[in-house]
Amino acid sequence: MLNGKTIILGVTGGIAAYKSVELLRLLTKAGGDVHVIMTRSAQEFVTPLTFQTLSRNPVQTELFNLMGEREIGHISLADRADLFVIAPATANVIGKLACGIADDMLTTTVMATRGTVVLAPAMNVNMYLNPIYQGNEERLRRHGYLFVDPVKGDLACGWEGEGKLQTPEIIFQEVLKALTPSDLAGESLLVTAGPTREEIDPVRYLSNHSSGKMGYAIARAAWRRGARVTLISGPTALPAPWGVEMVSVESAGEMYDAVMARAGGSSVIIKAAAVADYRPVLRAGEKLKKQGGTMTLELVKNRDILTELGKDKGRRLLVGFAAETTELLHNARKKLSEKNVDLLVANDVTEVGAGFSVETNVVHLLHRDGRVEAPGLLSKEAVANLILTRVGELLRERE
Ligand code: CTP
Repeated sequence: MLNGKTIILGVTGGIAAYKSVELLRLLTKAGGDVHVIMTRSAQEFVTPLTFQTLSRNPVQTELFNLMGEREIGHISLADRADLFVIAPATANVIGKLACGIADDMLTTTVMATRGTVVLAPAMNVNMYLNPIYQGNEERLRRHGYLFVDPVKGDLACGWEGEGKLQTPEIIFQEVLKALTPSDLAGESLLVTAGPTREEIDPVRYLSNHSSGKMGYAIARAAWRRGARVTLISGPTALPAPWGVEMVSVESAGEMYDAVMARAGGSSVIIKAAAVADYRPVLRAGEKLKKQGGTMTLELVKNRDILTELGKDKGRRLLVGFAAETTELLHNARKKLSEKNVDLLVANDVTEVGAGFSVETNVVHLLHRDGRVEAPGLLSKEAVANLILTRVGELLRERE
């Protein structure tokens, strides 16, 4: 996700400096070329060697060490950076940046950069709430600096309150967002994901193998691309995506209600969920006891959410999925027209690298004009982005 990107990670002197080691790991694992700049006080908490080893780049600490080189170090670094992230950012460094003070390698390089700057503050709660600090933050925000707000919690200084550095994983997500063009800004996306569970009795249910990975990837990617995202999910083992409003449901009936209650406020609905087509006619109040021989379970059809949405679309864009095991394109074409969707994403769940639980998918994208795209084996993240690119094109066409 960060291949070809140059990122500067600034580390300032707070106890949370050890957490930026984890942030560095996430950035490099995603393919970023990360250059670390540490202030003098940051080096009291973590050694430059740790960052140097993990980034595989020299760590910059002193402004004037580099003057002997052919290029002026801080200017060349600043020129190359796609993004600058400072985590933790102390009240001191934020104060300096707000006032245009450039008296060390870190502040000088930030001032010289034209790339996006993301600041993740960490400090004592009273420092954080201090109107002077708040004024500095406000000033930087006005100049386009992005902030990853600290969270409430036990602070190293013994106080409890706001000021704790946000988690490295969430700072990483915000960095990805800051590097992604906001081509879906202003759109409200409703995404469904995962399986549903239809209860038979208090201990048993009917369900399917859906892991939710495809729908969650769409929700994460849409948030990064600037959309307001609501994710309605059946039971999965996945963490709730950052920045996304999460609605957890169990049964197809609950998913139906949750979707219908929010459909009106959405400009795009993407139905990646594997909704159960049937539920038991009766849910037994007590655990069913086994009997000899066979057992018959009577099922009744669930309402088809996508079909209902297709009946009264208005200007809303509808994207459906089709999970097939035979006659992929024939069945998918039928669903495209019968469910009245604008785009249908079909996959053969028996194909290697496609379907449930895996990190990849092999999809066919069916358009209303008969076009079929077959991009081959892709990560679910890449499939999500391809679907969203087509959604963006359809939205623009509609305008
Ligand atoms: N879907 C839905 N509500 C249902 C069943 C399916 O909204 N009760 C949606 C799914 O979220 C998906 C699309 O319809 O976007 C196709 O789902 P799929 O399971 O592939 O097909 P079905 O319509 O259920 O048809 P079949 O099981 O006969 O293949």
